[in-house]
Amino acid sequence: MAAASVSKKLQGKVAIVTGGASGIGEATARLFAAYGARAVVIGDIQDEKGRSVAESIGSDRCSYFHCDVTDEEQVKSMVAHTVGAYGSLDVMFSNAGMISEPNQSILDLDLSVFDTLMKINTRGMAACVKHAALKMVELGVRGSIVCSSSAAVEVGIPLNVDYGVSKHAVVGLMGSAYQKLGEHGIRINCISPAVVATPMSARIGLGTVEATEAALGTVCALQGVTLTPERVAEAVAFLASDEAAFVTGHNLVVAGGMSLHAVSKALAKAFKAN
Ligand SMILES: NC(=O)c1ccc[n+]([C@@H]2O[C@H](COP(=O)([O-])OP(=O)(O)OC[C@H]3O[C@@H](n4cnc5c(N)ncnc54)[C@H](O)[C@@H]3O)[C@@H](O)[C@H]2O)c1
Repeated sequence: MAAASVSKKLQGKVAIVTGGASGIGEATARLFAAYGARAVVIGDIQDEKGRSVAESIGSDRCSYFHCDVTDEEQVKSMVAHTVGAYGSLDVMFSNAGMISEPNQSILDLDLSVFDTLMKINTRGMAACVKHAALKMVELGVRGSIVCSSSAAVEVGIPLNVDYGVSKHAVVGLMGSAYQKLGEHGIRINCISPAVVATPMSARIGLGTVEATEAALGTVCALQGVTLTPERVAEAVAFLASDEAAFVTGHNLVVAGGMSLHAVSKALAKAFKAN
């Protein structure tokens, strides 16, 4: 039987994936390459893991670049390196992020922890968007920028207030940038997944498929499907590709109908109570 043909929706594109050494970023770097990207640059601070992911994808089309997104000069260098090595920049998946421990409810919010998290999740995101966009404008590339937010912006995340604030800010960044970038034909969108089993979710006790299924099972409308890094990566690849050529300023929530379902369940309960 002939092998099923893999879509080449990213044929010839040059992409950066920040936070590509692990989790959602790693799955996305792999999928970008599978979808025909000419080059994928993984920007991360986990050098050993990042290099190993790049090598396993193939040194002909993937490389690792040490980039701490909190340092604007390093972000600028990563973008310059990408264009120097591969001649273009078509896609920026600005995905690097962290979640703090212990829990940060509003009543025990440690503001120095808050500052550290915001520096990565929000300021780092702004630096990546800024420098990718500047380079795309300079090169005349009608590129695509995708930013990692979270379904936390739909439903709140009471035990991780700092994280929730940072992810709302990412949607705000996108919402404040798409008009200016649209003048140059550059698209910018957000991806907002529900809980996915990755090293990050493991840090808050949700790092297994079983734990995420248990957490999402009762609040998602969609049953019988598990959210994996690969499923998030498919949504990112759509936004990155020309299939989404008229999609900009959009926050794509990948959460199995979580918020709508939770609201409608609560309403149904309230109606019954009356
Ligand atoms: N896992 C989830 O449930 C989930 C849900 C919604 C959104 N997200 C978001 O998706 C993104 C990826 O998360 P993940 O779950 O894959 O986590 P992960 O921990 O597996 O990967 C995050 C990557 O970001 C890198 N990183 C952290 N700080 C950095 C910095 N200063 N500079 C460069 N790289 C840095 C890490 O080294 C790591 O490789 C994050 O922005 C996260 O907030 C995750």
